[in-house]
Amino acid sequence: MSSPGWTLQALPQMSDQQFQQWQELLEDRTGIFLAEQRKSLLQSSLMTRMRELECTDYQEYYDQIVHGPMGRIEWAKLIDRLTVQETRFFRDPEAFKYVAQFIQSQRDHIDRKNPLDIWSVGCSSGEEVYSLAMLAHEVLSQTDQQEEFMITGTDISVPVLNKAREGLYSSRRVEVLNQHYLDTYFDEEPKGYSVKPEVKRQTCFAQVNVLEIDQSPQTQRHIIYCQNLLIYFRRWRRQEILNQLVDRLLPGGLLLIGMGEIVEWQHPQLTPVKGESVTAFIKRKI
Ligand SMILES: C[S@@+](CC[C@H](N)C(=O)[O-])C[C@H]1O[C@@H](n2cnc3c(N)ncnc32)[C@H](O)[C@@H]1O
Repeated sequence: MSSPGWTLQALPQMSDQQFQQWQELLEDRTGIFLAEQRKSLLQSSLMTRMRELECTDYQEYYDQIVHGPMGRIEWAKLIDRLTVQETRFFRDPEAFKYVAQFIQSQRDHIDRKNPLDIWSVGCSSGEEVYSLAMLAHEVLSQTDQQEEFMITGTDISVPVLNKAREGLYSSRRVEVLNQHYLDTYFDEEPKGYSVKPEVKRQTCFAQVNVLEIDQSPQTQRHIIYCQNLLIYFRRWRRQEILNQLVDRLLPGGLLLIGMGEIVEWQHPQLTPVKGESVTAFIKRKI
């Protein structure tokens, strides 16, 4: 330990003006809106990183990020501390149940030339992507189409994407999975459970900031799964992002978002799915 006295130092107080500056930077670059009540959370997240850099001044650190020669690299590291990355396998069972039904309904349209294409937006460390992969495999294996799907996971944070690509999870993280899933889709290793290479082959991960979807490929997908991401954004921005996701959905495709993440949003090309257990929409065919 280089300077134990330093790590024990109390956090400097952030002024209202400094908070506003950081709040604006975060929202401009990620869309995440931090309400005033979350100031202490911002402060402690910044401090964790500032301690590593032995920097004691919020302003100095801000200037480093915005104007410094290594600003972009530092921002990429910081963003990992500022975003909520909580996730787990099959986090929303009702949503996954609905996706399974949807995949079932699409089986006649899926073949090698037209594999099922699923996008997990804001995928964090990959549990959502691998849950979708296991689910697709289970449903499609009933008709020998078990390999005719591809799941893309995207996130703004490079470190979580690296974890996702690695696909290694502790026994605590996989304890929600039954023995069949563990045996079929994971290899047990000294450090935990590793997603089998053949499952990984059907997934891919890429850095995409949802504020910049317009710069990503125009690919249209069968399913877009976007949960627990929009909740951090202001309402107008949630709507704007959803409108862009609709453009990336195939006619007849499914858009699934988290319960309560959007209210009173309609889109002329979408039909809402009836029922109270999921917030989902199907894109009209014409
Ligand atoms: C709470 S996690 C949700 C993970 C997963 N979807 C789930 O429901 O379990 C939110 C994820 O969104 C990512 N995120 C935040 N802002 C983003 C942005 N502007 N673009 C893309 N991903 C973002 C975070 O890095 C984080 O991994």
